[in-house]
Amino acid sequence: MKKRLVSGITATGKLTIGNFLGSIKPSISLQNEYENFIFVADLHALTLPINSQELAENRKSIFAFYLACGFDPEKTVLFFQSEISEHSELYWLLQSATTIGELSRMTQFKDKARLKQENNTEKVPTGLLTYPILMTADILLYNPNFVTVGADQLQHLELTRKIAQRFNKIYKTNFNIPRAIISDSSQKIMSLTNPEHKMSKSSKSKNSTIFLSDTPEEAYKKIQKAQTDSENKIYFSKEKPGVSNLLNIFMGFTGKNKEESLLFFENKSYQFLKKTVGKIVANFLENLQEKYKENLVLVEIFAKKGAKKAKKIASSNLQKIKEKMGL
Ligand code: TRP
Repeated sequence: MKKRLVSGITATGKLTIGNFLGSIKPSISLQNEYENFIFVADLHALTLPINSQELAENRKSIFAFYLACGFDPEKTVLFFQSEISEHSELYWLLQSATTIGELSRMTQFKDKARLKQENNTEKVPTGLLTYPILMTADILLYNPNFVTVGADQLQHLELTRKIAQRFNKIYKTNFNIPRAIISDSSQKIMSLTNPEHKMSKSSKSKNSTIFLSDTPEEAYKKIQKAQTDSENKIYFSKEKPGVSNLLNIFMGFTGKNKEESLLFFENKSYQFLKKTVGKIVANFLENLQEKYKENLVLVEIFAKKGAKKAKKIASSNLQKIKEKMGL
């Protein structure tokens, strides 16, 4: 029998080429190997204030891009988190085995809470704290063997494993202790304007991020403005985060390895690098957006199908968990 894999993506902001290269593309290549459950984490988007129209657009757009990028609804159960109410219900049940201490030690909580306040907890939304419990519910509801996450989510997955172990001990549940498949860090795409930081879908700086919804011309222009350095020699180095990032983008889209890429750019200028990468990305977006348009009208149909499959497993598992808990 195929092993089961779960993954989710938070519906805050639009998808970027970083999301595509670092997480979507590798996940798609796993869909033959595993029984895949992939969802748009639209409930997680509520941990920070978000305009409802924006949320509605984001979640639909992510779903359509997932289809356009190559998730096959026959192989992957693709759905919206909020359409399976069992996620929220299990979330409550799991709170019984989690402490405030544990949750407040999560670095993502500390970072995001710090941005919201100067030690004023009145300003920190509760959802920011309890976020990892909902994530645990997302996972344990399907009892997977594997979870794909970015490196920044490993601490949350560690907590999930702890909660699963606790439940197995206290309530004699049979949760698998899920293992992480980490999105390939060599494919981590950095900001174009500040290449020491990850390319972020919620960045405020206009030229830092290439969204999958950018027009090919916009994307091309952003790459021409990308930060490099003054050496004008193309190679990988920690001291050259901008150039290394452009090389990584090149490798991600062409499938060439490091040596091949360096050979390709031997004795070439930064201008040539930027033009080449710009054209490749623009071309990719043009093709993708054509498929996106076709898929946008199919989102409801496929989401319904996915939700039906997910619901069946989620409700039967939740029932079993509740019985073990005496409910
Ligand atoms: N927290 C994850 C992120 O920000 C998204 C997510 C929500 C997730 N629930 C999940 C990932 C369950 C894996 C499994 O990337």
